Amino acid sequence: MSTESRKFDHIRICLKEKVESGVKSSFEDIKLVHRCLPQIDFRDIELEADFLGRKLSSPIVIAAMTGGHEKALKINANLAEAAENFGIAIGVGSQRAAIEDKSFEYTYKVVREKAPNAFVIANLGAVQFCRGYTVKEAKRAVDMIEADAIALHLNPLQEAVQKEGDLNFSCCLETIEELSSELSVPLIVKETGAGIAMEEAMLIEKAGASAIDIGGLGGTSFAAVESYRVKDSNIAKTFWDWGIPTAVSLIECASSVSIPLIATGGLRSGIDAARAIASGASLTGFALPLLKPAVRSYKDVVIKIEEISNELKIAMFLTGSRNIYELKTAGFVLTGATGEWLNERKLKLKKV
Ligand SMILES: Cc1cc2nc3c(=O)[nH]c(=O)nc-3n(C[C@H](O)[C@H](O)[C@H](O)COP(=O)(O)O)c2cc1C
Repeated sequence: MSTESRKFDHIRICLKEKVESGVKSSFEDIKLVHRCLPQIDFRDIELEADFLGRKLSSPIVIAAMTGGHEKALKINANLAEAAENFGIAIGVGSQRAAIEDKSFEYTYKVVREKAPNAFVIANLGAVQFCRGYTVKEAKRAVDMIEADAIALHLNPLQEAVQKEGDLNFSCCLETIEELSSELSVPLIVKETGAGIAMEEAMLIEKAGASAIDIGGLGGTSFAAVESYRVKDSNIAKTFWDWGIPTAVSLIECASSVSIPLIATGGLRSGIDAARAIASGASLTGFALPLLKPAVRSYKDVVIKIEEISNELKIAMFLTGSRNIYELKTAGFVLTGATGEWLNERKLKLKKV
């Protein structure tokens, strides 16, 4: 099957079917301490966030989703226009389709056209570099959309449950090292729904990556997506809930590395975003919640991002946080399985 039709399958399935994991992202285990005396004026709350040397208007990121199919054009255009309007970062979906066939470049380039000032993140799969991609392909992906950074995505789970999956992940760490030193833009290493443990986070940081996108369990499950594509196989269903919940993975990474972290995977409200920032994330990514709005219209994307932003602001108000820096220091209690995980793994949270 071509990369083009596979990418479209993913969008079609995500729009029609239940594709979220049965396991939650675990952000419900992070209880922010309510402040009945916030001692701030709600109107003074600011969402500005710093990321890799850039000032963004808010820590919300439109996570990588699409490109490489004619139907992706409108989705990317609506998302990009919203990113420009809000001054937030946006990732494109894997650019492999356009690396393989230049005629699909327009479905990605639209992001830079509609978002000339936004922080735009290119995207390629790490596994492709074990099959012959070199720095040249990574540079092409960056140049295609004049990207400010590139995300190298790790998706061993998705590849393992696919019929046509690429299973040679033996060179990913070397690829991170090479791209980190050869590219002129920062490299973000990103999981796609199964999370990143402390041990890998430390290897990724040591290899020179500039940031990590957790891509944890609790939201879109690519094993679930693949289970709808591979109807005669139970394997994808069996691995539907495989991975490290996003909040747990975030704490694993925050307690072990110093590079900035993006929390993506099952964030479904501005409260989740606030919990993620208080527990160590610099930015918070949303994919599936923005997909349906993006298929409908630019206006619907704006409504959804406004809703998440307002929820984030209210959570900041109720924790007495005037800005994102203060939110990073907001008090919280870790409960449930996440608290137990922290103890078992002897992790110590670093607070700023
Ligand atoms: C339709 C769809 C396509 C995606 N394609 C990509 C991709 O090409 N590259 C990538 O790094 N992540 C991809 N993702 C993963 C998201 O960026 C994100 O990590 C994941 O969906 C978890 O976030 P969510 O629970 O908010 O959807 C895709 C997600 C969706 C929903």
